[in-house]
Amino acid sequence: MMTFVSAQGPLRGEVSLPGDKSIAHRAALLGALADGPSRIDNFLDAGVTRAMLDVLTRLGVEWALTGTTLDIRGRGQVEWTDPSECLDCRNSATTLRLTAGALAGLGVSAVMDGTPSLRRRPMGALVDVLGSMAAPIRAAEGKHAPVTIGRRAAGAGLRGGEFALASASAQLKSAVLLAGLGAEDAVSVVEPGPSRDHTERLLEAMGVAIERDPERRRVTLRPPTGPLRPLELRLPGDLSSASFLIAAALITPGSSITVNDVGLNPTRTGLLDTLREMGAAIRVREGGERAGEPIGTIFVEHSELRGVEVDGDRVVRMIDEFPIFAVLAAYARGTSRVRQAAALRGKESDRIEALCRELQALGAEVEEHPDGFSIHGTGSLRGGSVRAHGDHRLALALAVAGMAASEPVHIEGSEVVDESFPGFVGAMQGLGARLG
Ligand code: S3P
Repeated sequence: MMTFVSAQGPLRGEVSLPGDKSIAHRAALLGALADGPSRIDNFLDAGVTRAMLDVLTRLGVEWALTGTTLDIRGRGQVEWTDPSECLDCRNSATTLRLTAGALAGLGVSAVMDGTPSLRRRPMGALVDVLGSMAAPIRAAEGKHAPVTIGRRAAGAGLRGGEFALASASAQLKSAVLLAGLGAEDAVSVVEPGPSRDHTERLLEAMGVAIERDPERRRVTLRPPTGPLRPLELRLPGDLSSASFLIAAALITPGSSITVNDVGLNPTRTGLLDTLREMGAAIRVREGGERAGEPIGTIFVEHSELRGVEVDGDRVVRMIDEFPIFAVLAAYARGTSRVRQAAALRGKESDRIEALCRELQALGAEVEEHPDGFSIHGTGSLRGGSVRAHGDHRLALALAVAGMAASEPVHIEGSEVVDESFPGFVGAMQGLGARLG
C-alpha cells in the first residue's frame, strides 16, 4: 500500500487515543497469569497486540475482545501445559521477549518464532540473561528467533540473584522479572538507564513485592507465595502514538490540538522534554493516576523549532520516538545530534540507517553515525518517494513529514502503521488532515 500525503491546512481539535502498546502487552500477559478474570478497557487492538493475544490462545488462555474491552481468564501460575505448536510472535519482539520470560518462570517448554523481520531482531541478551537464571533457553546462532525454551529437569528451579543488563531495555528487564515470578529467590535487575517500568507497576497492582532502588538503578522482585490478583484497569492513551499527532501540529502552521487521557509515565516522556528544549509550545495538564500510571492532557501549538542534542538517559526515555524526532529535527533550524542510541539499530528496522536514507530522499541534510545521527535542519522538506522498511514508527513519521513538505510524500508499505496505530489516518482526519 502507498500513502500519499501533501501539504495541509492547520490541524485543530481534540483527540483521545487507543491504549498504550507496552501496557497492553503486559496487561494481557499478566492477566493470563492472574488467579481469576481480568478486564482491561481501552485495550489496543493492533497487529502487535493481536500477536500477543494469539500466542496466549496457543497457550490455552481464554480471552474475548469486545470493542476495546479485553476480558481474559487468568490461569494462575500452576495450570500451564506445553503448547503443541510453535508460538508465532509475528512482528512483535515484545511478545517474544516478555512471553519467553513468563514461560521460563512457569517451566513451560515452547518454541517462539515470527516474521523474517522478527528473526533479524537481537535475542542474544535475552538468551544470556534467562540462561544465567538457569532457564533452558536457546536461539538460532545463539542470538536470533526461533527461540526455544526447553523442558526444565524435575526439581530444577530458576535461580534468583542480581542480573546486570549491558544496555537499558524494558523488554529484557521485564523478561527477568516475569521469570522471577517462578524463581527460588529474589531477582534483581540493574540497568544503565531508566527503561519503562510498566511491568513493575502492574506487578505491584497484582500484589507482588517490588522494591526499587533508583540510585543504583535496581529493581527487585520477591517471588510471590500466593496467587496474583486479577487486573481491572483502563489503559491510558499511548504517548508514543500521540507523538505523531503532536509533531504534525508542531510543523503545520496555524495548528492547535489537544490530546486527552494520555499516559505520562516519566520513563516515557523524554520526547516532550526534548521538544520543549527545541522551543515547542507544549503544555501538559496532569490528571492524576490511572491503574498506577500517571495520565494527563497535552496541548500543542504550531511552533518554530531549533536543533537540539540528545544523549544519555534521554535516549532511553524517548527510545521509540526517534523516527518522529528526526522529522522534527529536519523541520527545525540548526543542527540536531543524537548520540548513545545504537539500540535503534535493533528495532523494527535499523532505525539509524533507515531514517537517514529516507529523510535524505525527502531532501534533508543528514549524517549517519555508528550510535546516532546528525540532522542539519533547514526548516523545510522537499517531498518524494520513500519506503517504510516494515517499520510502523518509520511509516508514521514519514506520513507526518508529508504534512508540511513542499511536494507530496509517497510511502511504500505504509500499511505497517496498523501494527501499533490502526486509527492513525482517522485521528489525523479528525483533526482536519487530508491523507489518502
Ligand atoms: C518496549 C520496550 C522498548 C521499546 C519497544 C517496547 C516494551 O524496547 O523500543 O517498542 O514494551 O518493553 P527495549 O526494551 O528493547 O528498549
